[in-house]
Amino acid sequence: MAIRAVYPGSFDPLTNGHLDLIERSLRIFDELIVAVVTNPAKAALFTETERVEMIREATRGLRIEIMVFEGLLVDFVARVGARAIVRGLRAVSDFEYEFQMALMNRKLREEIETVFLMPHEAYSYISSRLIKEVAGYGGSVAGLVPAVVEKRLVERFPRR
Ligand code: PNS
Repeated sequence: MAIRAVYPGSFDPLTNGHLDLIERSLRIFDELIVAVVTNPAKAALFTETERVEMIREATRGLRIEIMVFEGLLVDFVARVGARAIVRGLRAVSDFEYEFQMALMNRKLREEIETVFLMPHEAYSYISSRLIKEVAGYGGSVAGLVPAVVEKRLVERFPRR
């Protein structure tokens, strides 16, 4: 039986750290759904459509499915017939939040496991938040995000 996993996140925007995690997940799971969250309470720089487009372009050739979800993650995971949630751990600072989420998700649906993967150390300091901050001030994020994301960020924040 094929084992399907969901890699959820805001992906606002996708970084090379996310991409690295997608590639690592594909070495473990038979099927991977990259799930972009819709969160009306959280202001995003890019719309869901833009985020999905960037993921699609950056993952061309990889056997993943990209979906948007709203509501509880575990309900989405159950609906798509997956049994694992993939999350990245960059540093100890990620641990507390991730641990809380994993245990809450387990409480909600104990049949779903959260699996943590470490991105390549070259990406351990990258976050979508920092990428947006640097790009917002006109700094270069080349090499830290896929080319399509870099292009969209430059369009959004013209270099001064
Ligand atoms: O990339 P992010 O912003 O760290 O991803 C967070 C995400 C999408 C995994 C989390 O916010 C989430 O699961 N949202 C869906 C709502 C939900 O299930 N909340 C309870 C989590 S315990």
